[in-house]
Amino acid sequence: MSYPQVPFVPTPLSVVRKMLELAELKPGEVLYDLGCGDGRIIIMAAKEFGARAVGIELRKDLVEQCIKEVKRQGLEDKITVIHGNFFDINVGEADVVTLYLLTSVNEKLKPKLEKELRSGARVVSHDFEVVGWKPLRVESIYDQWRSHKIYLYRVP
Ligand SMILES: C[S@@+](CC[C@H](N)C(=O)[O-])C[C@H]1O[C@@H](n2cnc3c(N)ncnc32)[C@H](O)[C@@H]1O
Repeated sequence: MSYPQVPFVPTPLSVVRKMLELAELKPGEVLYDLGCGDGRIIIMAAKEFGARAVGIELRKDLVEQCIKEVKRQGLEDKITVIHGNFFDINVGEADVVTLYLLTSVNEKLKPKLEKELRSGARVVSHDFEVVGWKPLRVESIYDQWRSHKIYLYRVP
């Protein structure tokens, strides 16, 4: 049994929308959320942006919650929820990857993303930068009593 190094803290919906807008997520593109929590990013990606979305989550209770909500909203044909460790799952088909982890976890993910993602894929990270990558954009958005940072990267 493995436990996440990062606790479940959901991204406010206004911040999720801004992340997906900044990534210019388009209908038919594929989005991966690494550590998808309650599934709010994959659900918005599919519902509002017309993407196919994949969420990977270590916690079984959250995976079950995601699947229940995906079914309730009739989005099963657009969303896949994987119960597993994102370090073990290839993300190479993603056009957009979303992260709300920690700088230290992003640091460990960096070589995997560099190896697997195709050139032109976008990575959007809430609050925690990917040290060593030069962001295309850094935006701040105020919600739930604090300012949230969004970092947008494009794989060279
Ligand atoms: C801060 S929450 C973000 C949830 C969601 N992405 C959002 O922005 O609302 C981080 C999530 O990543 C999950 N997580 C952490 N490490 C993981 C790993 N190695 N593989 C899969 N999920 C992981 C945690 O269980 C938690 O639900």
